[in-house]
This record gives sequence, C-alpha cells and structure tokens, in this order.
Amino acid sequence: MAKFLLLNGPNLNLLGSREPKHYGATRLVDIEQQLHKSAQAAGHELACFQSNAEHELVNRIQAAAGTIDFIIINPAAFTHTSVAMRDALSAVAIPFIEIHLSNIYAREEFRRHSYFSDVAVGVISGLGAQGYTLALSAAINYLSKNS
Ligand code: DQA
Repeated sequence: MAKFLLLNGPNLNLLGSREPKHYGATRLVDIEQQLHKSAQAAGHELACFQSNAEHELVNRIQAAAGTIDFIIINPAAFTHTSVAMRDALSAVAIPFIEIHLSNIYAREEFRRHSYFSDVAVGVISGLGAQGYTLALSAAINYLSKNS
C-alpha cells in the first residue's frame, strides 16, 4: 500500500465556476473524491490539501517527509513563481508529478515557465480533470517500478 498526497494551489478551490473555458466545470471536491476512490480501489491511500497560501503548501510538503510516497501537485499560479515550493519538494525528495488542467504552453507567455517541471517525474498539462486520474495511474506505475 502506498500513500499519495494531492496538492492544489491558489484559486483551485474555485474550480467549477472559475474560468470554465480554461479549467472546465468539474469542482475540486469532485476531483478529490474521484481520486480518493481510484486510490482506494487500487489498495492505496490518498490525502488531499488545497491552499491559497504559499507557506501553507510549503509546510504541507515538509510534513509529507517520511509519511508520503508520492505527490501529485497542481501548483497553479505558484508554478510560475515559487522557488520556495520547488525547494521544499527537493528537500523532502518525494517523487512528484506536476499537473495543470489547462495547456500552459498554449496560453500567455508567462505561463510557459515552470519552477517544477525539471525536477518532476513528469508533467501533465491540458487534459482537464482527467489529468488527475492519469497522474494517479502514472504514480502507481512509477512506485511499482521504483520501490
Ligand atoms: C493552472 C495553470 C496556471 O497557469 C494557473 O495560474 C492556474 C491553474 C492549470 O491547472 O491549468 O491557476 O495550474
């Protein structure tokens, strides 16, 4: 049994009503419930955390040391700004997948740079809420080969 942590950054608490053209109509609670079910069905555990505050995300990443096997993270706007969250992920050395609902390469120029991609196991961008399910499945596969 593996323990997964799903982290979502700022404004993702508004999913469902926030710019559906970019982020779809699925609410964060529905994504979390779906992922929970999928993890349980595969015999694993999933914890979820969303925050609009960078320091809370850093604290949650630090608290994951020694208890979490894999992180799935949508850093949202912090993708493009947060050296602190990148450093926290490197400090705990927990493998992670970076995920974005929208295709960050097909939008404004400033979204094309991520502070996470080069230290992530992989990146999923532009596949909407389905990306979270794909990330969990890839994470399970990764752990079965690397632990
Ligand atoms: C996002 C993309 C980011 O550029 C943006 O700031 C978000 C959401 C996505 O899921 O597509 O808040 O991470």
